[in-house]
Amino acid sequence: MSNFQIKGLANYKSTYQKSVDDPKAFWDAVAAENFVWQKKWDKTLSWDFEKPEVKWFEGAKLNITENCIDRHLETRGDKTAILFEPNDPNEKALHISYNELSDRVNRFANVLKSNGIAKGDRVCIYLPMIPELAVAVLACARIGAIHSVVFAGFSSTALATRINDSDCKMVITSDGSFRGDKTIDLKSIVDDALLDCPVVATVLVAKRIGSNIQMKDGRDKWLQPELDAASPICPPEVMDAEDPLFILYTSGSTGMPKGMVHTTAGYMVYTAYTFSNVFQYQEEDVYWCTADIGWITGHSYIVYGPLANGATTVMFEGTPSYPDCGRFWQIVEKHKVNQFYTAPTAIRALAKESLSNVSGHDLSSLKVLGTVGEPINEEAWHWYDEYIGKQNCPIVDTWWQTETGGILISPIPNATKTKPTYATLPLPGIQPALFDENGVELNGNNQEGRLCIKHPWPSMARTIWGNHNRYRETYFSAFPGTYFTGDGALRDEDGLYRITGRVDDVIIVSGHNLGTAPIEDAINEHLFVAESAIVGYPHEIKGSALYGYVTLKDTVGDMSEEELKTEINALIAKLIGPIAKLDKIQFTNGLPKTRSGKIMRRILRKIACGEMDNLGDISTLLNPEVVESIKESALV
Ligand code: WTA
Repeated sequence: MSNFQIKGLANYKSTYQKSVDDPKAFWDAVAAENFVWQKKWDKTLSWDFEKPEVKWFEGAKLNITENCIDRHLETRGDKTAILFEPNDPNEKALHISYNELSDRVNRFANVLKSNGIAKGDRVCIYLPMIPELAVAVLACARIGAIHSVVFAGFSSTALATRINDSDCKMVITSDGSFRGDKTIDLKSIVDDALLDCPVVATVLVAKRIGSNIQMKDGRDKWLQPELDAASPICPPEVMDAEDPLFILYTSGSTGMPKGMVHTTAGYMVYTAYTFSNVFQYQEEDVYWCTADIGWITGHSYIVYGPLANGATTVMFEGTPSYPDCGRFWQIVEKHKVNQFYTAPTAIRALAKESLSNVSGHDLSSLKVLGTVGEPINEEAWHWYDEYIGKQNCPIVDTWWQTETGGILISPIPNATKTKPTYATLPLPGIQPALFDENGVELNGNNQEGRLCIKHPWPSMARTIWGNHNRYRETYFSAFPGTYFTGDGALRDEDGLYRITGRVDDVIIVSGHNLGTAPIEDAINEHLFVAESAIVGYPHEIKGSALYGYVTLKDTVGDMSEEELKTEINALIAKLIGPIAKLDKIQFTNGLPKTRSGKIMRRILRKIACGEMDNLGDISTLLNPEVVESIKESALV
C-alpha cells in the first residue's frame, strides 16, 4: 500500500512534501500499487488551467466496479459490503456481502443493457436511501453508462431540468420512500417530471413502500422481475481513464444547476486514497456516513471510496429524529460503528435535544468522527467531541466540494492535531493558496482571503456537462492559473486552514447548497410578485437560513400577506424543492439598487442579520429612501 494510512505528523509532512515536489511520481505510485488496471497509463498527468483541461492516467483501461467489487470477492466475499439500516428501527437491517453485491450489480447491469442502455448513455437515478440506489450507481459504472443521481427531495420541475440537461434515456425510481413517520410518493413526482422529458424511454421502478401507483404502458417497468430474469454475470465494460463516470448537479450562484462531470480513474484513485487516510479504516471496522447518495458526500464516501477499500459501509434510510433524537446513537451502538461521518447541521440539531438521547447508548466502538458540508461552529465541535467522541476520537473537519470529488483539506487522525472549527491541513497532493480581491496571492501565515488550489488533483471535475465555457468562467477566470473554490478561508499562525464560508451567492442551508438566483426566479414566477432578493442570515441549527425581500405588484387581489407567503413558499417547493423554502419573507416597496440597477445585496444581508447601524454609505444608491422603510419593518 503506497502512502495509505499515514501515521504521525512527520510522516504526513514528508508524504505531503513528496506530493508537492513531484506530483506525478507521487500519484503514479499510489495508483500503481493499490488498484487493478486492465492496462496501465501512458501518461500520469497533463494539464492546462487556461483552457482548462486536466487528464490523469491517460491511456489506462479499467472498470471502477472491478476495484470496488470483483477484486474483493476472493478474500472478502462474505464480508458485509453494504449494511442497510431501514427507516423503521423494527425492520431488520440488511447485511449485503461483497458476493451478494456482485450478484445484484451484475444483474442490474444486465437489466440496464436489456433496456437499451449502452456505454456513454446517461441514466437518471431518483431513489431514496435503499440498497437499490447504491446498486444502480454501480450497475451504471459496470457498463459504462453515466449516472446522474438526483437527490429525492427535489421537486418534479427540478428533476425534469436535470434529466433534460444531460438527455437521460432512463429514470430509475421507486414507488415511494419512507422518511420518518411520513411516506413520499416519488413515482408521481417522476410522472410529473416526465411530462417534459421527451428523451426518457424507460422508467425502472423499485418497490419499497408497496403503494398503489400508476405504471405507464410501454415506459414503466417493475425492477424486481427484471432482476430475477437477468443473468448474474455481466463482464465489466472497458473504460478509459478519462471516460465520464457520473454527472452530479450542484447549485451555482446564477442560472441552471451545474452538471459537474467526474471521470473514472482519477476519481477512483483519489476517493479511495482519502477514504483510507482520513477515516483510518481498518479491515474489521464498520464505517457510517449519514449523507444521502444524492449528494457528492454519498457518492465518494458511502459508495466508491469505502467499497474501493473493501470496507463495510452503512446506508441509513431514515432521519436523525425518528423515532426519536437518539436514533443515530442507537444505530452506532447496534452496528458497533467505528467511523461516523455527518454534517454540522445534524450535530447542532441533536445537541439541542436532551443529553438522555445520547447517554443511554454505548458509543465505545467509535474511533473517528467526521463532519462535512459547512463550517462547524465551536459549540457544536465541542459537543461532538465531548458527548459523542468522549474526548477520545479525533474529529476530522473535512473541507471539499461537489467539484473536488474528494476531501481536500482535513486533519488525518494520528498525524494532525485537531483545532476546533479548523479543517487544518491540505491532504497530500493538494496545494491551497489564498488570494486577495485584486488577485494578489497572500503568502505566509496569518492571512485571510479567497481559497484557490494551484495544482490539479486526480478527482477534480473535468467540465460542466454541455457547458465547458461556464466551467472555465466559474472556476478558472477569477484567479487565472488556479482553481477558485468560491470559499473564503483563513490561514492561522501555524498554517492551519479555517474555511469561513462562501464568498459568492451560494447559501448553505442545513448543508445543502442553494443558489440565490434560481430561488428568486421561482418567486418571480408568482403573478403578484414584481421582484425579489434572497440573502442568508445565521441560524442556530441550519447554519444559514433564507431571508427573502419581495416587492409586490400593485394588484394583489384580496390576498392577505400570510396567504401570499404561503403561496410563495409553495411555488419554491414546486419549482425547486422544500429544502429551498424561505424562513422569513418581508414585503418591501422596493429593493436598494445601484445607479446601474444592480440590487445591493450587501445592505440586504446586513439588515437580515440585524446589523442596521452598520450599513455603510448608502447615499450613492439610486433609491436610498427604500433602505429606511426596509429597516423599519425588518423581521429581526
Ligand atoms: C462548504 C460538500 C466549511 C464549502 C462536500 C464548500 C465546508 C461547499 C466544509 C461545498 C467544511 C464543505 N467546512 N465549509 N468542512 N465542507 N463546506 O458541493 O462552502 O455540497 O464550497 O460539497 O460546502 O458543498 P458541496
